[in-house]
Amino acid sequence: MDVIRTPDEMQQWSDSVRSLGEKIAFVPTMGFLHEGHLTLMREGRRRAGVLVASIFVNPTQFGPAEDFACYPRDFERDCAMMEAVGVDAVFAPEPSAMYAPDSQTWVEVTGVTKGLCGPLRPGHFRGVTTVVAKLFNIVKPHIALFGEKDFQQLRAIQRMVADLNFDIEIVPVPIVREKDGLAMSSRNAYLSPDQRQQALALSLALRAARDRYHAGPCCVEELVSVAKCVLRRTPGVEIEYIEAVDAGTLERTSSLDHPILLAIAARVGKTRLIDNTVLKP
Ligand code: PAJ
Repeated sequence: MDVIRTPDEMQQWSDSVRSLGEKIAFVPTMGFLHEGHLTLMREGRRRAGVLVASIFVNPTQFGPAEDFACYPRDFERDCAMMEAVGVDAVFAPEPSAMYAPDSQTWVEVTGVTKGLCGPLRPGHFRGVTTVVAKLFNIVKPHIALFGEKDFQQLRAIQRMVADLNFDIEIVPVPIVREKDGLAMSSRNAYLSPDQRQQALALSLALRAARDRYHAGPCCVEELVSVAKCVLRRTPGVEIEYIEAVDAGTLERTSSLDHPILLAIAARVGKTRLIDNTVLKP
């Protein structure tokens, strides 16, 4: 596996691979890899001859009060895991290689970033779409894989790719969960054993709402209240939002005729967790 540290070097690597007629799959990550990330990589491996991953804890998507400095990092361990799934090259730049001090350009998606996590994390999605646009220009992939765990991020990137004519196919990958239902996340590493147990409330709440959805006619408000009920009875879990939105536009909806995204953000101690499920008629 090649470890590449600068945009120039990465672009040259990808140019030479492309000139051989190879198809490049790309999985961008912030590292501290888990089975969710590896599932994206295996899917990329299956879909293309060459697989590139990136590990970059992107400073521009963290707010001033967020966990950029203490975000978990273990590059050695990540490399061993990527080797095992057959990553051909990892792009792992320093922040100074990605952002010039005089950089003045942002990529901002409007509509789909307005709701859900948008107002709670000002500037977050702008940081994500900016870094992903840069990574796309640096890695030059044919396809890129993103997890549905970060559903709003996935929609923002799909919007950006459509609106800015990136010639890249975006492949969504379903949420990978622990055996007991907890959605895998690098931030789960922050949880104490008690908090780890409390964090199960998110997936249990979604499951309860899903069961209600499939049990017979109901309305959006009822689905939200079923999920809220489960979260509220778990001590240590502080709800940031529970919302049901149109799974395509991420706009509020009261209709259950089309796919609905039920999304939760909650704090368990200081750790902010998100989870979601898509309900389809
Ligand atoms: P990170 O949180 O490391 O996630 C990298 C990719 O893995 C994202 O596409 C995310 O949705 C996916 N992923 C994480 N946990 C998952 C799970 N349990 N199941 C399925 N997929 C999962 O998301 C980011 O990094 C960053 O915002 C990034 C896109 C790299 C830009 O900096």
